[in-house]
Amino acid sequence: MAYKIPLFNLNFDGKEAQAAYDTIQSGWISTGPKCEELEKMFVDMFHVNYAVSMSNCTDALHLCCLVSGVKPGDEVICPSLTFAASANCIRYAGATPVFCDIVGPEHINIDPEEIEKKITNKTKAILVVHMAGFPCKMDEVMAIAKKHNLKVIEDACHGPLSEYKGKKLGTIGDCAAFSFFSNKNISTGEGGMFISNNKEIADKARLLRSHGMTTMSYQRAGGHATAYDIVELGYNFRLDDIHAAIAIEQLKKLPEDLEKRIAVRNRYIELLSKVENVIIPFADNTEFVSNYIMPIVITKGTVEDRDSIRNKIHEAGVQTSVHYPAIHRFSIYKDYGAVLPQTEYVTDHEITLPMYAALTIEDVEYIVGVVNEAING
Ligand SMILES: Cc1ncc(COP(=O)(O)O)c(C=O)c1O
Repeated sequence: MAYKIPLFNLNFDGKEAQAAYDTIQSGWISTGPKCEELEKMFVDMFHVNYAVSMSNCTDALHLCCLVSGVKPGDEVICPSLTFAASANCIRYAGATPVFCDIVGPEHINIDPEEIEKKITNKTKAILVVHMAGFPCKMDEVMAIAKKHNLKVIEDACHGPLSEYKGKKLGTIGDCAAFSFFSNKNISTGEGGMFISNNKEIADKARLLRSHGMTTMSYQRAGGHATAYDIVELGYNFRLDDIHAAIAIEQLKKLPEDLEKRIAVRNRYIELLSKVENVIIPFADNTEFVSNYIMPIVITKGTVEDRDSIRNKIHEAGVQTSVHYPAIHRFSIYKDYGAVLPQTEYVTDHEITLPMYAALTIEDVEYIVGVVNEAING
């Protein structure tokens, strides 16, 4: 079924197609000048020292774990209310994800008080996820990390250009990962970025991104090097220049796209605050944020009631989603012994409403009318 209002919409025009075409015509399509240009844009726009383009965010998170020194036998504290990649990356490094609860329906990010309770002598790092692009309680997280000598990895996939007390998300911890998957704020199909302010960490990520090789094909093609050594067991996590060229166009549009999303969210808040039995997570936020998605939490009923509300909304032509089915309930994680009451409440009562820059005020009014009828009608 084609929805009257989809969950998200690509902010594409002819520029992305032209950029991809020009790159193909240039004769260099793998990691090269476009990746370098994109990395430089990230450094400038995110006020960060180093950016390393990646094939996707999952790979960037994998490297975040490796360069943070996460090793077999270690534990990494992370939320369960996130996409599976945020926990899987810990296991790729041979360590164990320790699932931690969120604050609650009003703030659906990891709860610093719960983090403290999960720390053992095996804990190596805290991996935070800035849900929907809204910042985690980073002052508290960083204070805990400092006290216990832990690394902090930011899954900033939802929050490009979002801020926390004047700092861009992804620049507060030791390193961070962004995604360019098609439904993200920066869309290229697949793609991602690793960022860090620490040279040693960023150099290591760059090395591991491409087989641990000391030079890249592009450098050799340019005559800057004729040979290479392999000094680490690395991977092929490279982005190619075609995707990077698309990402550059997307990044240029991002500030204006985010301004439009803010207007959409403001109208949502205005209308949804009159709807009974609904909590809007992060309603009290005053930071500049990316508004990657528009989550709401229903305050009554069961998971079956939530699903039937979603069905009614779909019948009215509005696509919704759930962010997220909690990871600790998936078959491969059900033996990890996680007890997370706030996460379980939110995963069973959350509905994600459409959010994108081209959503009109009339669209928002229609959606909220449909949501109110489905919940309270
Ligand atoms: C919070 C979060 N982390 C990680 C990922 C993985 O990103 P990618 O698809 O670029 O690997 C996603 C993707 O949906 C995500 O939402």
